[in-house]
Amino acid sequence: TRPLKVALLGCGVVGSEVARIMTTHADDLAARIGAPVELAGVAVRRPSKVREGIDPALITTDATALVKRGDLDVVVEVIGGIEPARTLVTTAFEHGASVVSANKALLAEDGATLYAAAEQHGRDLYFEAAVAGAIPLIRPLRESLAGDKVNRVLGIVNGTTNFILDRMDSSGAGYSEALDEATALGYAEADPTADVEGFDAAAKAAILAGIAFHTRVRLDDVYREGLTEVTAADMASARRMGCTVKLLAICERAADGQSVTARVHPAMIPLSHPLASVREAYNAVFVEAEAAGQLMFYGPGAGGAPTASAVLGDLVAVCRNRLAESTGPGESAYTQLPVSPMGEV
Ligand code: NDP
Ligand code: HSE
Repeated sequence: TRPLKVALLGCGVVGSEVARIMTTHADDLAARIGAPVELAGVAVRRPSKVREGIDPALITTDATALVKRGDLDVVVEVIGGIEPARTLVTTAFEHGASVVSANKALLAEDGATLYAAAEQHGRDLYFEAAVAGAIPLIRPLRESLAGDKVNRVLGIVNGTTNFILDRMDSSGAGYSEALDEATALGYAEADPTADVEGFDAAAKAAILAGIAFHTRVRLDDVYREGLTEVTAADMASARRMGCTVKLLAICERAADGQSVTARVHPAMIPLSHPLASVREAYNAVFVEAEAAGQLMFYGPGAGGAPTASAVLGDLVAVCRNRLAESTGPGESAYTQLPVSPMGEV
């Protein structure tokens, strides 16, 4: 069987782990897919940076030329941000590749354009890594729960802010010190304002609400408060009340089913609640569905290797689809429901 050609756009915290696993697990990946996977090129900004385990001949700063090659099966986008990521992804579809992306900011800003481009060219758009790191959540919502009716998705979806709150609560660390540690560990976004101001969690809430409720929700539709206003004194008084503070994303379908709400804000959680024991950069998400009841998804929510695990899972799925000359689920049929930022808790 011919090797499947994969281009990697970005080789930072996530991309370097994707490349490492593609190399070290090459035989396992080939066995699971049914064909070998070949790294055909790696686009970066700084070509002279040493990238362990990557053939320097594969490195390029011309991501546009890479996605226009025409012989790629899959493009993995782990650059982040809106542009040039959006143009690169749509160009990849135009030139016949499927796309795996971890870019929640882009999906929440303009997912509709990406879905449309994928559909127009008969290719896949997979993005498990965009929400909650290693935790399988997108595929369960898109596929496993497709026959049920999801009414609520609620939880911790940002690892950096959970790490900061956890450090402030458990070891009395200061906010800046905890943020610096989260950045050093590769949890924070390139601009950590996205984490601490709640934009990253809001983007994830928009993606989750859209998929869970079969509608379209964009970042601007989500009510957002970050944790920059949460002080050590707030944490201490929560503790005195038998609570802790967590940054929650809450997406709900209205009781009459005619609208949805999505919001992100800090909340006091009783210490007896499972969300209170989510430590470090872990995430946890409850999904409430009519027939299934309440499901809890829990695991590492950020970091290079956990996120790469989700990217690689998507890569295997997309490669299998390529070999079968089929595609997986695209954007399901949706009804545009009004989205209001606040609803009943
Ligand atoms: P990094 O900043 O570590 O890496 C970004 C990479 O993209 C770098 O290799 C950089 O090159 C490259 N790059 C930036 N601009 C360009 C460009 N114009 N052309 C070519 N290459 C470019 O980010 P992360 O790996 O942390 O994140 C990547 C994506 O994954 C983002 O969308 C992020 O939101 C998402 N994500 C991140 C998680 C995490 O825990 N870090 C978890 C889940 C999702 P160079 O190396 O030369 O600087
Ligand atoms: N910055 C993000 C977080 C990365 O801390 O959750 C994972 O999406």
